[in-house]
Amino acid sequence: MTAETALASFRDLAPEEDDFLAEVVAGLSATPKTLPCKFFYDEAGSALFGRICELPEYYPTRTETALMRDKVGEMAAAIGPQAQIVEYGCGSIEKVRILLDALQAPAAYVAVDISREHLRQAAEILATDYPAVEVHALCADFSRPFEVPDGIPGARRVGYFPGSTLGNFDHGAAEAFLAGAARLAGSGGGMLIGIDLKKDEDVLNAAYNDAAGVTAAFNLNLLVRINRELGGDFEPGDFAHHAFYNGSAGRIEMHLVSHRDQEVRIGEHRFSFAAGETIHTENSYKYSVAEFQALASRAGFEPAEMWRDPADLFSVHYLQVP
Ligand code: AVI
Repeated sequence: MTAETALASFRDLAPEEDDFLAEVVAGLSATPKTLPCKFFYDEAGSALFGRICELPEYYPTRTETALMRDKVGEMAAAIGPQAQIVEYGCGSIEKVRILLDALQAPAAYVAVDISREHLRQAAEILATDYPAVEVHALCADFSRPFEVPDGIPGARRVGYFPGSTLGNFDHGAAEAFLAGAARLAGSGGGMLIGIDLKKDEDVLNAAYNDAAGVTAAFNLNLLVRINRELGGDFEPGDFAHHAFYNGSAGRIEMHLVSHRDQEVRIGEHRFSFAAGETIHTENSYKYSVAEFQALASRAGFEPAEMWRDPADLFSVHYLQVP
Protein backbone atom coordinates (compact mmCIF):
# COMPACT_ATOMS: atom_id res chain seq x y z
CA MET A 1 0.00 0.00 0.00
CA THR A 2 1.43 3.42 -0.87
CA ALA A 3 1.57 6.17 1.75
CA GLU A 4 -0.84 8.58 0.14
CA THR A 5 -3.51 6.24 -1.28
CA ALA A 6 -5.43 3.13 -0.31
CA LEU A 7 -4.49 1.57 -3.68
CA ALA A 8 -2.49 -1.66 -3.42
CA SER A 9 -0.67 -0.94 -6.69
CA PHE A 10 -0.70 1.19 -9.82
CA ARG A 11 1.04 -0.42 -12.81
CA ASP A 12 1.62 1.37 -16.07
CA LEU A 13 1.63 -1.01 -19.02
CA ALA A 14 0.19 1.53 -21.42
CA PRO A 15 1.58 1.16 -24.92
CA GLU A 16 2.97 4.12 -26.83
CA GLU A 17 0.21 6.64 -27.53
CA ASP A 18 -1.93 5.58 -30.47
CA ASP A 19 -0.83 7.41 -33.55
CA PHE A 20 -4.04 9.42 -33.92
CA LEU A 21 -2.90 11.21 -37.08
CA ALA A 22 -1.72 8.02 -38.84
CA GLU A 23 -4.98 6.19 -38.04
CA VAL A 24 -7.14 9.14 -39.15
CA VAL A 25 -5.20 9.52 -42.42
CA ALA A 26 -5.41 5.76 -43.10
CA GLY A 27 -9.16 5.67 -42.32
CA LEU A 28 -10.03 8.71 -44.47
CA SER A 29 -7.86 7.39 -47.34
CA ALA A 30 -9.77 4.07 -47.39
CA THR A 31 -12.87 3.31 -49.46
CA PRO A 32 -15.35 3.56 -47.86
CA LYS A 33 -13.97 6.10 -45.39
CA THR A 34 -13.79 5.02 -41.74
CA LEU A 35 -12.58 6.35 -38.38
CA PRO A 36 -11.93 4.09 -35.35
CA CYS A 37 -14.57 4.43 -32.61
CA LYS A 38 -11.89 4.30 -29.88
CA PHE A 39 -11.17 7.96 -30.70
CA PHE A 40 -14.64 9.07 -29.55
CA TYR A 41 -13.50 9.18 -25.95
CA ASP A 42 -11.62 12.45 -25.40
CA GLU A 43 -12.83 14.48 -22.41
CA ALA A 44 -15.84 15.94 -24.25
CA GLY A 45 -16.66 12.56 -25.85
CA SER A 46 -16.53 10.73 -22.50
CA ALA A 47 -18.85 13.34 -20.99
CA LEU A 48 -21.26 12.97 -23.94
CA PHE A 49 -21.18 9.18 -23.54
CA GLY A 50 -22.08 9.65 -19.86
CA ARG A 51 -25.12 11.66 -21.01
CA ILE A 52 -26.06 8.99 -23.58
CA CYS A 53 -26.20 6.43 -20.75
CA GLU A 54 -28.90 8.54 -19.07
CA LEU A 55 -31.06 9.10 -22.19
CA PRO A 56 -34.60 7.71 -22.17
CA GLU A 57 -34.02 5.99 -25.55
CA TYR A 58 -30.65 4.43 -24.57
CA TYR A 59 -31.90 1.36 -22.69
CA PRO A 60 -28.63 -0.68 -22.30
CA THR A 61 -27.09 1.04 -19.26
CA ARG A 62 -30.31 1.31 -17.28
CA THR A 63 -31.38 -2.24 -18.14
CA GLU A 64 -28.02 -3.82 -17.32
CA THR A 65 -27.79 -1.96 -14.00
CA ALA A 66 -31.30 -3.07 -13.01
CA LEU A 67 -30.50 -6.64 -14.05
CA MET A 68 -27.33 -6.58 -11.95
CA ARG A 69 -29.28 -5.29 -8.94
CA ASP A 70 -31.96 -7.91 -9.40
CA LYS A 71 -29.76 -10.96 -10.03
CA VAL A 72 -26.47 -10.13 -8.34
CA GLY A 73 -27.04 -12.77 -5.65
CA GLU A 74 -27.12 -15.47 -8.32
CA MET A 75 -24.17 -13.89 -10.15
CA ALA A 76 -22.10 -13.84 -6.94
CA ALA A 77 -23.01 -17.46 -6.25
CA ALA A 78 -21.88 -18.44 -9.77
CA ILE A 79 -18.57 -16.60 -9.30
CA GLY A 80 -17.95 -18.08 -5.83
CA PRO A 81 -15.83 -16.89 -2.90
CA GLN A 82 -12.38 -15.26 -2.94
CA ALA A 83 -12.29 -14.39 -6.61
CA GLN A 84 -9.93 -11.85 -8.09
CA ILE A 85 -12.13 -9.59 -10.24
CA VAL A 86 -10.43 -8.10 -13.32
CA GLU A 87 -12.58 -5.35 -14.80
CA TYR A 88 -11.99 -4.53 -18.47
CA GLY A 89 -12.39 -0.74 -18.68
CA CYS A 90 -13.66 0.96 -15.54
CA GLY A 91 -16.17 3.39 -17.09
CA SER A 92 -18.72 3.98 -14.38
CA ILE A 93 -18.01 2.29 -11.05
CA GLU A 94 -21.70 1.86 -10.27
CA LYS A 95 -21.98 -1.67 -11.67
CA VAL A 96 -18.83 -3.05 -10.08
CA ARG A 97 -19.98 -1.70 -6.73
CA ILE A 98 -23.15 -3.79 -7.06
CA LEU A 99 -20.94 -6.83 -7.73
CA LEU A 100 -18.39 -6.16 -4.96
CA ASP A 101 -21.21 -5.61 -2.44
CA ALA A 102 -22.61 -9.07 -3.22
CA LEU A 103 -19.46 -11.19 -3.67
CA GLN A 104 -18.33 -13.43 -0.88
CA ALA A 105 -14.91 -12.24 0.39
CA PRO A 106 -13.48 -11.07 -2.96
CA ALA A 107 -9.68 -11.47 -2.85
CA ALA A 108 -8.81 -8.54 -5.09
CA TYR A 109 -10.15 -6.12 -7.69
CA VAL A 110 -7.95 -5.20 -10.65
CA ALA A 111 -9.18 -2.27 -12.75
CA VAL A 112 -7.76 -2.19 -16.29
CA ASP A 113 -8.16 0.97 -18.35
CA ILE A 114 -6.17 2.93 -20.91
CA SER A 115 -7.21 6.31 -19.51
CA ARG A 116 -4.61 6.88 -16.76
CA GLU A 117 -6.29 9.64 -14.75
CA HIS A 118 -9.78 8.19 -14.91
CA LEU A 119 -8.36 4.79 -13.87
CA ARG A 120 -6.46 6.24 -10.91
CA GLN A 121 -9.49 8.16 -9.64
CA ALA A 122 -11.91 5.25 -10.01
CA ALA A 123 -9.53 2.75 -8.39
CA GLU A 124 -8.77 5.10 -5.49
CA ILE A 125 -12.48 5.61 -4.77
CA LEU A 126 -13.04 1.85 -4.74
CA ALA A 127 -9.93 1.21 -2.61
CA THR A 128 -11.20 3.71 -0.04
CA ASP A 129 -14.74 2.36 -0.06
CA TYR A 130 -13.74 -1.35 0.02
CA PRO A 131 -10.85 -1.51 2.52
CA ALA A 132 -11.12 -5.30 2.79
CA VAL A 133 -10.51 -5.73 -0.97
CA GLU A 134 -7.02 -5.35 -2.42
CA VAL A 135 -7.51 -2.85 -5.25
CA HIS A 136 -4.96 -2.72 -8.08
CA ALA A 137 -4.98 -0.37 -11.06
CA LEU A 138 -3.46 -1.49 -14.36
CA CYS A 139 -3.09 1.11 -17.08
CA ALA A 140 -3.25 -0.97 -20.27
CA ASP A 141 -5.10 -1.26 -23.58
CA PHE A 142 -7.30 -4.26 -22.81
CA SER A 143 -8.15 -4.77 -26.48
CA ARG A 144 -4.58 -6.04 -26.90
CA PRO A 145 -3.10 -8.99 -24.95
CA PHE A 146 -1.74 -8.05 -21.49
CA GLU A 147 -0.60 -9.88 -18.37
CA VAL A 148 -1.65 -9.20 -14.79
CA PRO A 149 1.77 -8.43 -13.23
CA ASP A 150 3.46 -10.62 -10.63
CA GLY A 151 2.72 -9.49 -7.13
CA ILE A 152 -1.02 -9.29 -7.69
CA PRO A 153 -2.37 -12.28 -5.75
CA GLY A 154 -3.13 -15.24 -8.00
CA ALA A 155 -6.58 -16.11 -6.62
CA ARG A 156 -9.14 -17.54 -9.07
CA ARG A 157 -9.53 -14.89 -11.70
CA VAL A 158 -12.86 -13.69 -13.03
CA GLY A 159 -13.10 -11.02 -15.75
CA TYR A 160 -15.87 -8.43 -15.58
CA PHE A 161 -16.83 -6.70 -18.86
CA PRO A 162 -20.13 -4.82 -18.55
CA GLY A 163 -21.76 -2.34 -20.93
CA SER A 164 -21.87 -4.54 -24.04
CA THR A 165 -18.60 -2.93 -25.10
CA LEU A 166 -17.77 -6.24 -26.80
CA GLY A 167 -20.42 -5.15 -29.34
CA ASN A 168 -18.03 -2.48 -30.61
CA PHE A 169 -15.56 -5.20 -31.73
CA ASP A 170 -16.01 -6.90 -35.09
CA HIS A 171 -16.61 -10.65 -34.77
CA GLY A 172 -12.97 -11.69 -35.30
CA ALA A 173 -11.70 -9.14 -32.78
CA ALA A 174 -14.43 -10.13 -30.30
CA GLU A 175 -13.39 -13.79 -30.49
CA ALA A 176 -9.70 -12.89 -30.11
CA PHE A 177 -10.53 -10.66 -27.13
CA LEU A 178 -12.56 -13.40 -25.42
CA ALA A 179 -9.80 -15.97 -26.09
CA GLY A 180 -7.33 -13.61 -24.37
CA ALA A 181 -9.72 -13.15 -21.44
CA ALA A 182 -10.09 -16.95 -21.12
CA ARG A 183 -6.28 -17.34 -21.11
CA LEU A 184 -5.92 -14.60 -18.49
CA ALA A 185 -8.61 -16.16 -16.27
CA GLY A 186 -7.05 -19.63 -16.59
CA SER A 187 -8.60 -22.98 -15.80
CA GLY A 188 -11.28 -22.64 -13.11
CA GLY A 189 -11.59 -18.91 -13.75
CA GLY A 190 -14.43 -17.16 -15.51
CA MET A 191 -15.97 -14.03 -16.93
CA LEU A 192 -19.12 -12.01 -16.21
CA ILE A 193 -20.05 -10.06 -19.34
CA GLY A 194 -22.92 -7.81 -20.41
CA ILE A 195 -24.23 -8.34 -23.97
CA ASP A 196 -26.89 -6.30 -25.74
CA LEU A 197 -29.52 -8.47 -27.44
CA LYS A 198 -31.11 -8.42 -30.89
CA LYS A 199 -34.57 -6.85 -30.71
CA ASP A 200 -37.17 -4.76 -32.50
CA GLU A 201 -35.34 -2.50 -34.96
CA ASP A 202 -37.34 0.56 -33.90
CA VAL A 203 -36.03 0.24 -30.34
CA LEU A 204 -32.46 -0.07 -31.64
CA ASN A 205 -32.78 2.81 -34.09
CA ALA A 206 -34.24 5.09 -31.41
CA ALA A 207 -31.41 4.25 -28.98
CA TYR A 208 -28.82 5.60 -31.46
CA ASN A 209 -30.96 8.51 -32.74
CA ASP A 210 -32.10 10.20 -29.53
CA ALA A 211 -34.46 13.13 -29.76
CA ALA A 212 -32.14 15.42 -27.77
CA GLY A 213 -29.32 14.92 -30.31
CA VAL A 214 -26.73 13.76 -27.76
CA THR A 215 -25.63 10.76 -29.87
CA ALA A 216 -25.31 13.07 -32.89
CA ALA A 217 -23.08 15.41 -30.84
CA PHE A 218 -21.03 12.39 -29.66
CA ASN A 219 -20.48 11.27 -33.27
CA LEU A 220 -19.69 14.79 -34.57
CA ASN A 221 -17.30 15.41 -31.66
CA LEU A 222 -14.84 13.16 -33.50
CA LEU A 223 -14.47 15.88 -36.16
CA VAL A 224 -14.11 18.57 -33.48
CA ARG A 225 -11.34 16.47 -31.88
CA ILE A 226 -9.54 16.02 -35.21
CA ASN A 227 -9.68 19.79 -35.79
CA ARG A 228 -8.28 20.57 -32.33
CA GLU A 229 -5.64 17.87 -32.01
CA LEU A 230 -4.53 17.37 -35.62
CA GLY A 231 -5.10 20.82 -37.13
CA GLY A 232 -8.07 19.73 -39.26
CA ASP A 233 -10.53 22.13 -40.87
CA PHE A 234 -13.70 20.03 -40.77
CA GLU A 235 -16.91 22.07 -40.65
CA PRO A 236 -18.93 19.81 -38.31
CA GLY A 237 -22.08 21.58 -39.52
CA ASP A 238 -21.39 20.21 -43.00
CA PHE A 239 -21.78 16.63 -41.76
CA ALA A 240 -24.81 14.83 -40.31
CA HIS A 241 -25.09 11.97 -37.83
CA HIS A 242 -26.60 8.87 -39.42
CA ALA A 243 -27.22 5.68 -37.39
CA PHE A 244 -29.25 2.66 -38.49
CA TYR A 245 -29.64 -1.04 -37.78
CA ASN A 246 -28.06 -3.18 -40.49
CA GLY A 247 -30.11 -6.36 -40.10
CA SER A 248 -27.98 -8.63 -42.29
CA ALA A 249 -24.81 -7.72 -40.36
CA GLY A 250 -26.67 -7.68 -36.99
CA ARG A 251 -25.29 -4.30 -35.99
CA ILE A 252 -26.04 -0.65 -35.52
CA GLU A 253 -23.80 1.39 -37.82
CA MET A 254 -22.94 5.00 -37.11
CA HIS A 255 -21.79 7.25 -39.92
CA LEU A 256 -21.10 10.93 -40.58
CA VAL A 257 -22.62 11.98 -43.91
CA SER A 258 -21.19 14.82 -45.95
CA HIS A 259 -23.93 17.34 -46.79
CA ARG A 260 -22.15 18.49 -49.97
CA ASP A 261 -19.10 18.05 -52.18
CA GLN A 262 -16.25 19.37 -50.10
CA GLU A 263 -12.54 19.13 -49.37
CA VAL A 264 -11.12 18.87 -45.87
CA ARG A 265 -7.53 19.46 -44.82
CA ILE A 266 -5.78 17.80 -41.91
CA GLY A 267 -2.27 19.27 -41.66
CA GLU A 268 -0.73 18.65 -45.08
CA HIS A 269 -3.32 15.98 -46.03
CA ARG A 270 -6.43 16.68 -48.14
CA PHE A 271 -9.54 14.56 -48.39
CA SER A 272 -12.39 14.95 -50.88
CA PHE A 273 -15.97 14.17 -49.94
CA ALA A 274 -18.83 13.79 -52.42
CA ALA A 275 -22.29 14.93 -51.32
CA GLY A 276 -23.86 11.99 -49.46
CA GLU A 277 -20.52 10.19 -48.90
CA THR A 278 -20.09 8.84 -45.36
CA ILE A 279 -17.39 8.20 -42.78
CA HIS A 280 -18.22 4.96 -40.97
CA THR A 281 -17.41 5.69 -37.32
CA GLU A 282 -18.81 2.81 -35.24
CA ASN A 283 -20.39 -0.64 -35.27
CA SER A 284 -22.40 -1.88 -32.31
CA TYR A 285 -23.14 -5.59 -32.78
CA LYS A 286 -26.24 -7.11 -31.20
CA TYR A 287 -26.36 -10.82 -30.40
CA SER A 288 -28.93 -13.51 -29.77
CA VAL A 289 -28.13 -15.54 -26.66
CA ALA A 290 -27.23 -18.53 -28.86
CA GLU A 291 -24.95 -16.44 -31.12
CA PHE A 292 -23.07 -15.02 -28.15
CA GLN A 293 -22.72 -18.41 -26.45
CA ALA A 294 -21.35 -19.92 -29.67
CA LEU A 295 -18.81 -17.07 -29.91
CA ALA A 296 -17.77 -17.55 -26.26
CA SER A 297 -17.41 -21.31 -26.81
CA ARG A 298 -15.20 -20.80 -29.86
CA ALA A 299 -13.02 -18.58 -27.67
CA GLY A 300 -12.51 -21.32 -25.07
CA PHE A 301 -15.23 -20.50 -22.52
CA GLU A 302 -18.08 -22.71 -21.37
CA PRO A 303 -21.35 -20.74 -21.02
CA ALA A 304 -22.46 -21.47 -17.43
CA GLU A 305 -25.35 -19.11 -16.60
CA MET A 306 -27.27 -16.31 -18.29
CA TRP A 307 -29.64 -13.67 -16.99
CA ARG A 308 -31.84 -11.31 -19.02
CA ASP A 309 -34.37 -8.63 -18.16
CA PRO A 310 -38.11 -9.37 -18.52
CA ALA A 311 -38.32 -7.42 -21.82
CA ASP A 312 -35.37 -9.38 -23.35
CA LEU A 313 -33.40 -6.23 -24.05
CA PHE A 314 -30.08 -7.11 -22.44
CA SER A 315 -28.23 -10.17 -21.12
CA VAL A 316 -25.50 -10.86 -18.59
CA HIS A 317 -23.53 -14.12 -18.98
CA TYR A 318 -21.28 -16.06 -16.65
CA LEU A 319 -18.69 -17.96 -18.66
CA GLN A 320 -16.31 -20.50 -17.17
CA VAL A 321 -12.90 -21.66 -18.31
CA PRO A 322 -13.03 -25.47 -18.20
C1 AVI B 1 -19.69 1.88 -25.55
N1 AVI B 1 -20.65 1.22 -26.45
C2 AVI B 1 -21.10 -0.07 -25.88
C3 AVI B 1 -21.76 2.08 -26.90
C4 AVI B 1 -22.71 1.30 -27.83
O1 AVI B 1 -23.91 1.30 -27.56
O2 AVI B 1 -22.23 0.67 -28.77
C5 AVI B 1 -21.23 3.32 -27.62
C6 AVI B 1 -22.34 4.17 -28.17
N2 AVI B 1 -22.38 4.66 -29.40
C7 AVI B 1 -23.47 5.37 -29.55
N3 AVI B 1 -24.17 5.32 -28.44
C8 AVI B 1 -23.47 4.57 -27.56
